[in-house]
Amino acid sequence: MSESPYDIYGRNTWAEIDLAQLRVNINALSDLAGTKMLVIVKANAYGHGMVECARTAEECGVHMLGTATIGEALLLRENGIKTDILLVAAYAPDEIETIIKAGLHFPVWLEEHLTLIDHITKTLGIKAHAHLKIDSGMGRIGVFPEQSLRFARYLNDHDHIIFEGVYSHFHSADDDDLTTTKDQLEIFEACIKELEDHKIRPPLVHMANSPGLLRLAESRFDMVRSGKITYGEPHEGPCDMPSAIKPILQWKAKLVSIKTFPKDHPISYGAHYKTYEGEHIGIVPVGHADGWHRVPRGVNKVLLHGERVSVMGTVCMDQCMISIPPHIDAKIGDEIVLIGKQGKETITDKEIGEEWWGTNNYEVITNIPARVPRIYLR
Ligand SMILES: Cc1ncc(COP(=O)(O)O)c(C=O)c1O
Repeated sequence: MSESPYDIYGRNTWAEIDLAQLRVNINALSDLAGTKMLVIVKANAYGHGMVECARTAEECGVHMLGTATIGEALLLRENGIKTDILLVAAYAPDEIETIIKAGLHFPVWLEEHLTLIDHITKTLGIKAHAHLKIDSGMGRIGVFPEQSLRFARYLNDHDHIIFEGVYSHFHSADDDDLTTTKDQLEIFEACIKELEDHKIRPPLVHMANSPGLLRLAESRFDMVRSGKITYGEPHEGPCDMPSAIKPILQWKAKLVSIKTFPKDHPISYGAHYKTYEGEHIGIVPVGHADGWHRVPRGVNKVLLHGERVSVMGTVCMDQCMISIPPHIDAKIGDEIVLIGKQGKETITDKEIGEEWWGTNNYEVITNIPARVPRIYLR
């Protein structure tokens, strides 16, 4: 069996994360944005490894990081990350105290938040880093546009609240048609104008997510919130990426078994596949518990010796079986690529998501769990 530097992890599958390329991506996006950058590192940095990606972003000098949960933010702090963090997802009112104590930036969109922030900051004698979130059409968190002045006044007028920013979020900025995106931008701009007319202008006005950053320069304001594109992940719509930006994740494994089967031998749960005479069946130690979908129809492919080979039979929890064509002289220990390039062939998470599994590339990579070790290339 060939030597692998990854054996120390006790698994024969791993994801390689190219942090040098992450730097290139961040720097290219920062140049393009021409403004401050918040890098979204939630969901384990979209599956790429939150702490290492956050550290790299911090070294690149980004202005802020974005997490979805308090737990993610605290994990970053435990790992020495000092950059300001904005919680970008909904939290429950009873979490506000923890958020304020941890010094996190957070969105404000409910009446309850105002009362709680007031009470907590006064009782504890500490400041809160609030961003007013405006719902310009996403229908998730955010005040309705007509409430924005009242909320902004509150945040602006309370000494113990640092009114850090005001922001909104696009719902369809990767659509072919940018009409609704431009409508959202217009709604948001009208809110900002109303605040400015009342001499309210927090330091950070922000709206652009990845497609906004790429496609609508007017949405970049004081800061862009860059998620998927940071990791080189292509968007669903017609978003041209700067050529320097590349994906930073490859998912690999080693072939751990090869057996030659007689004709009509069933393979895997449900016996959906029967072998042909002399078929070489290999085992790849990756299963649906690794985020490799349980599709029984030979849909999944992997790369072996630079060629696409099919996964035959149902994907098991921790392993799957591939049919090795007779012309491939495979050996136990050979490298398998699930996402990435081998020889002249490439399998992308976009192909897997959109063409095989009926989802998108982000779901593919964010669902690769922690039990698939991440190997960081610097
Ligand atoms: C509020 C907010 N901003 C920015 C982003 C980043 O989006 P994208 O990955 O499209 O850049 C997200 C992602 O979900 C988000 O919720």
